[in-house]
Amino acid sequence: MHQYVRQFAQWEGKEVTVKGWVANIRDSKTNIFIVFRDGSGFAQCVVSLDTVGETLFELAKSLTQESSLRLSGTVVKDEKQIGGYEMHVSDLEVYQIATEYPITPKDHGVKFLSDNRHLWLRSQRQWAIMRIRNEIIMSIHTYFQDHGFIQMDSPIFTGNAVEGTTDLFETDFFGQPAFLAQSGQLYGEAMAMAQGKIYTFGPTFRAEKSDTPRHLSEFWMIEPEMAFYNNEMNMDLIEDFIRYIVTRVIDSCKLELQALDRDVSKLENVKLAFARVPYEEAIKILRGDVEVDGKNAIKLQETDLEKAKTDLETKAAEIADREKSIASGVSKGERKYHETKILQLRKDIADLEEQIRNIPKWIESAKNFSDGNDFGNSDETVLTRVFDAPVMVYNWPTKIKAFYMKEVEGDPHHVKGVDLLAPDGYGEIIGGSERETDLDILMRKVEEHHLPMESFEWYLDLRRFGSVPHAGFGLGLERMVRWISGIHHLRETIPFPRRYGRLFP
Ligand code: 4AD
Repeated sequence: MHQYVRQFAQWEGKEVTVKGWVANIRDSKTNIFIVFRDGSGFAQCVVSLDTVGETLFELAKSLTQESSLRLSGTVVKDEKQIGGYEMHVSDLEVYQIATEYPITPKDHGVKFLSDNRHLWLRSQRQWAIMRIRNEIIMSIHTYFQDHGFIQMDSPIFTGNAVEGTTDLFETDFFGQPAFLAQSGQLYGEAMAMAQGKIYTFGPTFRAEKSDTPRHLSEFWMIEPEMAFYNNEMNMDLIEDFIRYIVTRVIDSCKLELQALDRDVSKLENVKLAFARVPYEEAIKILRGDVEVDGKNAIKLQETDLEKAKTDLETKAAEIADREKSIASGVSKGERKYHETKILQLRKDIADLEEQIRNIPKWIESAKNFSDGNDFGNSDETVLTRVFDAPVMVYNWPTKIKAFYMKEVEGDPHHVKGVDLLAPDGYGEIIGGSERETDLDILMRKVEEHHLPMESFEWYLDLRRFGSVPHAGFGLGLERMVRWISGIHHLRETIPFPRRYGRLFP
């Protein structure tokens, strides 16, 4: 029986066998240091000439990055090592010596990595993100199952548009046009009338030709739908649900969050109450006309801009210092150390330069935001900057939201929609609403949105037979993974992303 490096703490001082791959390898005259990975984690394994003898030592020396092998040895505590333990190897067996592995520890471009996604998945960063994704998925199921929800599977071939007709993938369903589901919501509503509280968890498709860090063509959505819920109850659920997931991931994925260098203190802010702000109030905050706890959205951007400029100067000076040290002649090890630092500093500087370019545009857009528009990416960044926890914006302009949202009583220009915006620029992760219950209003809305009435007849039946107040929301799984993992682009949040311009591998 072999063991896994994640369980090394249980095996301290004992002899174990592990099976996996070489993530990295370096050698000296008498020791070979293997960064070993086995799927459960990463650990340093040391093969020393004295212990294994010449034949095995030579075999170990022939290992290349991503060679597969079995190692046996003693687990030793060492705080300095990844995971806090290392293995002193006494025996090894090679399954395969890998030929030259294309992804090396050097910096590769994103296109190259995306073309090699099938291999890129093995890197520590991708490993960590996929583990976090898994934990999020499990916590979503646990949360709903513990709260009386039934999981339902909604169809993927559909005859109706849900979220507007502009971004539908059309296919041929035995000679009849069909669309890949944009959302399972309408079917979820039908099931909620049968089961009370349900949630879908499935792939959804949007044909937007937008090459942005926040858009995929195929993404996974979780859509709870609850009979006898209004939008306030919907928001209570969103807050409790998101707090549960984030808290659980912080707890269960310490190693992964550490591998990603995620600032966990920021995530811990989910413990704070989530602000609930009506759209009309949110746009005043955005324009800097209203402050939140003494914080002005526009002034904060101006401060951030100044800070970015100072940080850039400090980092540029540090690069100059390190380059000077290298030029003055240092040991090979020190030189490597400086070079790694400089590489990181250059990346930081590129980020800062981007911020310095962007912030003035964001300020312009926020100051001039016109009532009735949807928030753009930068508006969400500027708005959420005044809040530490995620914020819920509700009661949206009717004309920018979907046909099924319920109008605010006495105010047909606003609907009871809610978006949850994650802090620190991560932006919208949830869209939801209370649903229109009145048959006549709903039929009028279907017409106003130029949707084909006949294909919505079944949906209208839900209002003919025992219509009740109900509400629900959709969480974009990849947006959630992106926020919790603290990464920039959705392409890293799903094993094989499908997005504008990317179908392979
Ligand atoms: O706001 P959306 O379009 O809402 C719906 O689809 C509703 N039917 C949900 C409901 O009330 N049951 O999408 C919901 C969420 C967004 O907040 C976002 O997180 C994610 O789905 N999302 C996307 N994620 C990745 N790529 C895209 N192209 C996405 N479009 C939406």
